[in-house]
Amino acid sequence: VTDDGTRRFDLDIRAGATEIVAGVKTPTWGYSGAILGPTLRARHGETVAVRVRNSLGEVTSVHWHGMHLPAIFDGGPHQPIMPGGTWTPTWTVKQPAATLWYHPHAHGTTQRHAFRGLAGLFIIDDDNPVSRELPHDYGVDDVPLIVQDKKFTPNGNLDERDDPSAGLLGSTVTTNGIADTYLDVTTERVRLRVLNGSTVRFYNLGFDDDSEFEMIAGDGGLLEEPTRLRRLRLTPGERAEIIVTMRPGLTRILRAYPFEDNNGIRPSQPAANFGLADTFDIVLLRAANTLKPRPAPPAALAHIPPIDTNGAATRTFLFGQVSINGATMDMQRIDVRTVVDTPEIWAVTNGVNGVHNFHVHDTRFRVIDIDGQAPPPELAGWKDTVNVRPFSTVRLAVRFSDYTDARWPYMYHCHLMYHEDYGMMGQFLVL
Ligand code: C2O
Ligand code: CU
Ligand code: CU
Repeated sequence: VTDDGTRRFDLDIRAGATEIVAGVKTPTWGYSGAILGPTLRARHGETVAVRVRNSLGEVTSVHWHGMHLPAIFDGGPHQPIMPGGTWTPTWTVKQPAATLWYHPHAHGTTQRHAFRGLAGLFIIDDDNPVSRELPHDYGVDDVPLIVQDKKFTPNGNLDERDDPSAGLLGSTVTTNGIADTYLDVTTERVRLRVLNGSTVRFYNLGFDDDSEFEMIAGDGGLLEEPTRLRRLRLTPGERAEIIVTMRPGLTRILRAYPFEDNNGIRPSQPAANFGLADTFDIVLLRAANTLKPRPAPPAALAHIPPIDTNGAATRTFLFGQVSINGATMDMQRIDVRTVVDTPEIWAVTNGVNGVHNFHVHDTRFRVIDIDGQAPPPELAGWKDTVNVRPFSTVRLAVRFSDYTDARWPYMYHCHLMYHEDYGMMGQFLVL
């Protein structure tokens, strides 16, 4: 933080090499390091100023996923950073505590750039007193888990050949950039901030002993109350904060389990194509023989006011294989013009027998219903990315505030980066 109260960050996007699998050096990309990026952190009300340098040999961009900020600093395809160039976005944080992330978003190269290692977390803090009662000692009892899958060529390079149905679907799962991870736990409870930072893979998370955990936050911040779960699904781009209770000496594995229902994929399309039948270990938790006490999370975490959609207009979005409303991304075409501070209902339908999700820039939305049913508790808080199962309709309450711009659009898109790169994305202006 500098004298004027601004939080300044420097990021250098560059190539390096990482031992993702022990004993093998793999060429990777990172923000100011060989892979991934530093966890950036700022408080509600603070001004953030980032200086991003692109030391790669090709164009990229940095998008602040989940961040409410002016469109010109959003870091999507309209804010490319040329090789050797720098970009200096700045904005004031106007949203509650949450686990956000940053990643590349140049048109057509997002999947490959993210697969090479470009991703980092951006944690927002606020003055909600509950924060002090939750585990908050970063790296000790408050631990980020960036979950991604990789695949390799026989000589240990990343295998960047797209599978025609699934894109860059990997067979090795990495946590925070490496395979076969463990975490030594020294406290009775540990808070895991889990990001599905994979390009296309879905995860059905749970523990090997089938124990319950408490989800306390989703994409856009704390839930109203902790939710006890045995399984939690995360699609690419989604985040969840969970509290795990440990006992002295206990080991427990956070694992990705098969989707028993194939995520609603009908049998004409094998779930195996999308990796939905796979099992992976995410991280091994190893508790010490004496654990420092940590209280259970408070019963009330946050107040989440509803978005009032009485009388709101509905927009419909229909997914095809890689299209939205029959169109693919055109950087010259504005698909949606919306009015600031005016709630809308966005009804998003997956019209095909395949995996898709939906992400909207700049805002946090609420799930109104899924095929007419109220959302389950894990989807009841602030969201910015949501699973849209085959032939299902998710209705979202959406509202944009503070920033209008007649020139620079934001994006909405499927966050399976393979689909996004093929143009499963649209542009909207907030006017
Ligand atoms: Cu996480 Cu448009 O992206
Ligand atoms: Cu985003
Ligand atoms: Cu998709």
